[in-house]
Amino acid sequence: MAKPKRPIRMPPKVQPSVLKPIPGKVADANPRFRPKVLPLVVGGALLYFGATYTTMLVYKSKQDTQNDIERREAGVEDSELTPGNFDTSTIWNKIAADYDKEIATDEFWMGIGLLRRWLIGKAKGDVLEVSAGTGRNFEHYKPDHVTSLTFTDKSPSMLEEAKSKFEEYNSNFKKAFVAFKRADVQEIGSLTTDDGKPMKFDTVIDTFGLCSCSDPVEAILGMVNACKDSEDARILLLEHGRSHYDWLNNLLDKNADKHVSKWGCWWNRDFMSVFEDERVTRELDIEKVSRWHLGTTYYVIAKKKSKST
Ligand SMILES: C[S@@+](CC[C@H](N)C(=O)[O-])C[C@H]1O[C@@H](n2cnc3c(N)ncnc32)[C@H](O)[C@@H]1O
Repeated sequence: MAKPKRPIRMPPKVQPSVLKPIPGKVADANPRFRPKVLPLVVGGALLYFGATYTTMLVYKSKQDTQNDIERREAGVEDSELTPGNFDTSTIWNKIAADYDKEIATDEFWMGIGLLRRWLIGKAKGDVLEVSAGTGRNFEHYKPDHVTSLTFTDKSPSMLEEAKSKFEEYNSNFKKAFVAFKRADVQEIGSLTTDDGKPMKFDTVIDTFGLCSCSDPVEAILGMVNACKDSEDARILLLEHGRSHYDWLNNLLDKNADKHVSKWGCWWNRDFMSVFEDERVTRELDIEKVSRWHLGTTYYVIAKKKSKST
């Protein structure tokens, strides 16, 4: 007997009502394939910043290696540099006049200006910026939010650059008291006015300075001492150091000597370990940390611990 033929199944007809646009919403034929815009944008940004950072880093390492070869050919002694035997101020005094020109392009492509704006926009009240360099943060301060601005740096040449740059911004800060002082960040807690009164601050800022000083723990403790005893006082930091990734840390380690002798900065510091030091944990609470450029750029907001807790 012949088998009965199976009925041919036709695909179900799409109900027109499924495709009907909901008033006020864009029609979406298949919601399962709706692109997730936020993760794409965030992922793309991270990839972009990671890639630009790696490119800059490899390029800088090559440059540093070339300088090293030239140094050896010129018969300059190759010594093991450490924060104990090498004061980076000599470098800063030498490169002050060219500093802005040298780093402007790198900062632009890495989006550092945006991170500066994000951080410095939070400054308020009496503000101290340590290791202020050539004043690359001036443009980001909100004049209505600050009562006074004090800029310090250990290098007289960097401070001179900052002072002359500030002339451009003077008119924005007519209502604020502004001062420039030469000071080591480690001694910043005992800063005084010209007539000898102790100076204390609502906001203490450091951007890319902790890679240059000899002892970042002492520097942070100095900043804590410079804060007012107030619930609202904050320390705002934008720094750079070791990455999340070993392959990158190996590159930073391998070139640390050459890099510090050209750029005055120890770029392989384990920055977060500063906040694990017992002397720091006793004094400071971390409110926010975010890391960029494969973990090498650190954005940190910290608060002096209240004496009563
Ligand atoms: C990489 S530059 C950063 C400058 C500026 N903060 C910026 O964001 O462009 C490092 C600065 O730290 C300063 N510096 C290095 N050691 C210091 C110390 N012990 N105390 C104060 N400033 C120091 C240098 O003179 C230099 O101006």
